[in-house]
Amino acid sequence: MTRSVPDETRTRVLELRDLIREADYRYYVLDDPTLTDTQYDELYRELVALEGEWPELHDPESPTQRVPGVVAEGFEPFEHPSPMVSLDNVTDEEQFRDWVGSGDRYLRSEDERRYSVEPKIDGIGLELIYEEGVLVTASTRGDGLVGENVTANARTIRSIPQRLRGDDVPAWIAIRGECYCRKEDFFAFNRAAEEAGERTFANPRNFVGGSLRMLDSRIPASRPIRYFAYALGGVRGASFDNQDAILEAFRSYGLPTIPEARIVDGVDAVATRYAELVEARDDVPYEMDGVVVKVDDLALQERMGMRTRSPVWAVAWKFPAQRALTRLNDVDWSVGRTGVVTPRAILEPVFLAGVTVQHATLHNLDELERLQLQIGDEVEIERAGDVIPKVLRALPEQRSGDERDIVVPDRCPACDTELHRDEGKVALRCGNFACPAQITGHLAHFASRGALDIRGLGEKQVTQLLREGLIKDAADLFHLEEDALAGLERWGPKSAQNLLAQLDAARTRPLDRFLVGLGIREVGERGAKILARAFGTLDGVRAATKEELLELDEVGEALADSVLEWFGEERNEAMLERMAQGGVAPAAVAAPSGGAFEGLTLVLTGKLEELSRDEAKRLVEAQGGRAASSVSKRTDLVVAGPGAGSKLKKAEELEIEVIDEAEFLRRAGR
Ligand code: IVH
Repeated sequence: MTRSVPDETRTRVLELRDLIREADYRYYVLDDPTLTDTQYDELYRELVALEGEWPELHDPESPTQRVPGVVAEGFEPFEHPSPMVSLDNVTDEEQFRDWVGSGDRYLRSEDERRYSVEPKIDGIGLELIYEEGVLVTASTRGDGLVGENVTANARTIRSIPQRLRGDDVPAWIAIRGECYCRKEDFFAFNRAAEEAGERTFANPRNFVGGSLRMLDSRIPASRPIRYFAYALGGVRGASFDNQDAILEAFRSYGLPTIPEARIVDGVDAVATRYAELVEARDDVPYEMDGVVVKVDDLALQERMGMRTRSPVWAVAWKFPAQRALTRLNDVDWSVGRTGVVTPRAILEPVFLAGVTVQHATLHNLDELERLQLQIGDEVEIERAGDVIPKVLRALPEQRSGDERDIVVPDRCPACDTELHRDEGKVALRCGNFACPAQITGHLAHFASRGALDIRGLGEKQVTQLLREGLIKDAADLFHLEEDALAGLERWGPKSAQNLLAQLDAARTRPLDRFLVGLGIREVGERGAKILARAFGTLDGVRAATKEELLELDEVGEALADSVLEWFGEERNEAMLERMAQGGVAPAAVAAPSGGAFEGLTLVLTGKLEELSRDEAKRLVEAQGGRAASSVSKRTDLVVAGPGAGSKLKKAEELEIEVIDEAEFLRRAGR
């Protein structure tokens, strides 16, 4: 039986959709809302009800259709139409003026000294592609060439239009901008999460990044994430003369742009605007970490061109780190997973760069000595970007005489073992391998995001499992049984099953993540990747000799020794054995295949002009090759720049192919 939709219903649905789109535009783009929240919610609910009642009126572009009904399985890679480059940084006015000077030779007249000065939003870059005015993809920056397709999540952001406004939209356009969260929304979210006992985030940037990478779009949909458009990634069917016109067009399409962006004439005016924004930093509703200065004129931008990773025509002028004065109330000592005992400052809470700071790192004993701190001192602290705040100095002239000395412990605060200092090292260390603080730290690290990513196994759960005697080390995790877990306080069959499922997935995590989890000294994320790529399997790494390790680029004595020592230790071998019995089989890591240098060993020598050494190495790896530090019979290709010496000679002796940087870039497809 079919039924026809009454005309007035159809009209009302179309009208509601328009009203809601208009309200979103007024709210997000014009910052001039015409409806109250309640009025908006009423319209929205009415539309949801009508669409529910009349599925015939379904329209994927309806404002109610921002959240898909299914959960994604992963994110597809998305190749950007042109590279999403990053920006070079300057940190003071002198460097900024140097940057201006380096562009002088491209100027044809003084009138061209016109700049777009925009806040540098501390969020997550996102590229939107519209075809005939309809949003078709949204992607993250990724490595600049290939990002992640996060379209479903981007659709849930109400300040991103599903369809561009106006009749005059280009046939195809790539728009670049930033996803961000307002400070007040972020704090409100964290407060609510904390009350509900849910996960909180360290800063708005992490919050936005985490949300965009959720497979279930209902999560970002429920979070206060917004978007600013600030750059053109490409366009067909329209043309622009300058950045000002681009931003103006974005606004006319219904996309929000950064309200504090200004077009200014001359270098002095840029410096003035920079100073104004530094001053306004705390009052602006979102986090900015600097100012982006772009040459306004697109013809001049074109003449100035690009370097490999950044444009010549734009620069990021960073804000200074933020500092504040507060009081040192106490010092506590914590034992890390490697047994290092670190002092931490407990401060009188102070609001700094968007967060309340109550703790700061004091690093180690040398740092304590250098700072000459006393408890009760007034101290200056600094917070730069994401990093943990640190104590810069004490103000001894402010002392009242009631201050007291900091007492350095001589026994471990966790297990009471006598502490020692390694020869020539600044760290204070607890040498007891059975120290509960070390084991807890080790297990929490093993389960952490960068390692085996075992959700639901944080420090609290680890402490409980250790206390109840269910585990003694990481291998025991893979022999846990459901009944034993389900019987624990605050656990039940559901949480037990969840943890077992998580552990099951962890059994076959990639080898590099597994190596990170083992907590071998000197082996961080990068080191683990290098080892995993070079040797492929756990047995491969285990069997590596010192020579083989040292031959790897970026692997030095310390790392090589530490790996050999770790695998040479009997209890570690026994632990790996028990892990294997528990079904742990890290997935082999192959060098990326299909690249220009697949399976080849390259040596870079001499000076490189286009790329930094690190960039060149990463390019080798990205193209499936291995960058080694010395030339041997096993070297396949040598990239030699000006000034190459003994390595080049050796390559010639061994008759190994030698190419220059330009040829290297060409082969890598750059
Ligand atoms: S323009 C060619 N403008 O900063 C210029 N970027 O290191 C491309 N960012 O990844 C970028 N605010 O995510 C531009 N007003 C702004 C920005 C901005 C923040 C981010 C962007 C980029 C990074 C550059």
